[in-house]
Amino acid sequence: MPVTEKPVAPLAPHRPLAEFYGAPAARGQFVNQLFDEAAPDYDWVSALMSFGTDQAYRRDALRRAGLQPGMKLLDVASGTGLMLKAALELGLARSDLAGLDPSQGMLAQNHRRNGATLVQGRGERLPFQSGTFDFVCMGYALRHVEDLRELFAELHRVLKPDGRLLILEVTRPTRPMALGLMRFYMHTLVPALTWLCRKNTATAKLVKYYWVTIAECVPPEAILSALEAENFREVRRVTMRTILSEYLARR
Ligand SMILES: C[S@@+](CC[C@H](N)C(=O)[O-])C[C@H]1O[C@@H](n2cnc3c(N)ncnc32)[C@H](O)[C@@H]1O
Repeated sequence: MPVTEKPVAPLAPHRPLAEFYGAPAARGQFVNQLFDEAAPDYDWVSALMSFGTDQAYRRDALRRAGLQPGMKLLDVASGTGLMLKAALELGLARSDLAGLDPSQGMLAQNHRRNGATLVQGRGERLPFQSGTFDFVCMGYALRHVEDLRELFAELHRVLKPDGRLLILEVTRPTRPMALGLMRFYMHTLVPALTWLCRKNTATAKLVKYYWVTIAECVPPEAILSALEAENFREVRRVTMRTILSEYLARR
């Protein structure tokens, strides 16, 4: 009898969040609309949530992960282009940079900032040939994809042999006191400040959604195993400032 391969079940980054988008099928459209509407405020929120350290951190993480001038870089979930900006600051040529994101609103900000090649699309289906990039990065977007397995298979495919992967994420703290403080900060204080200063309901909602997806995200071990299952090598996680996770791997 022929051996039939068992289909691999999708690995969602978190449970469906009915309180935000009702049915699971509505998730993609909900996330897209949220980022479209919050796009003009995104950089402000990113700086607020990190006490102004976000951009120096992006640059430092890319440098420590081995990004160097001469490399071809793909920034998946490029958003307003803060990872690409960090790459330019590290001396990469604009012509070696590509960014991808599903949100037209975020891409419009990105285009104004970096002038790099930008493509509208999703990480789970990358419109690039296999073996194109020396380095692929993804900043704070793992929680927004439909299926981590599909995403990791695509990230692996578009990297050149031995190419490098860096995924930045925020991970919920394990200690109850730190968890409580972070919940208060991100679910109450930052949305309130955002509403007061920006008067944009979508941006305040984005911050609340951000927190819930962090709190509900699959644990780091599941992310590391999924990367290994897609044939990445040298898979590891580095943590910074307790809550910042850097997932590193090579093709
Ligand atoms: C929190 S922002 C991160 C932006 C940028 N990487 C940064 O470091 O600031 C998350 C981004 O993920 C994008 N996104 C949502 N779903 C996605 C998907 N399926 N594939 C790729 N990007 C996605 C959103 O449009 C948004 O721009």
